[in-house]
Amino acid sequence: MKRVFFLPLVAMTLGVFAAPAFADTDDEIQAKKQLFEQNCAACHSLTVATNQNLNRADWNWVLDDMEDYGLTWLTDEQREQIVDYLVANHGYGE
Ligand code: HEC
Repeated sequence: MKRVFFLPLVAMTLGVFAAPAFADTDDEIQAKKQLFEQNCAACHSLTVATNQNLNRADWNWVLDDMEDYGLTWLTDEQREQIVDYLVANHGYGE
């Protein structure tokens, strides 16, 4: 009989711990925003980017352009985080 009560408990516990894998925490969102603000204002106003509404492929294309213009200091991970932020906040999907 015990097992009947135990299984839902395991499922609920897994649900709680699995949740962060699917959604960014507030800290992660804040960190991505900061990366964007710190790196994308070096050459022009942030509104140059925030005026846009692009999907992930187009944001990646913009980042390629920015690298040609001289944005050479981002790690691959930082670049991905900035693109994530832009797609989520200034985009219309993947
Ligand atoms: C090394 C300098 C530099 C940095 C850093 C930089 N940009 Fe740019 N960006 C430019 C230049 C130069 C232009 C204007 C190009 C033109 O005249 O068409 C531009 C233009 C843009 C445009 C307008 C569309 C286009 O492709 O011309 C967008 C959007 C943009 N930048 C986004 C970003 C984002 C997002 C970041 C941060 C990841 C960033 N920029 C960082 C140099 C930079």
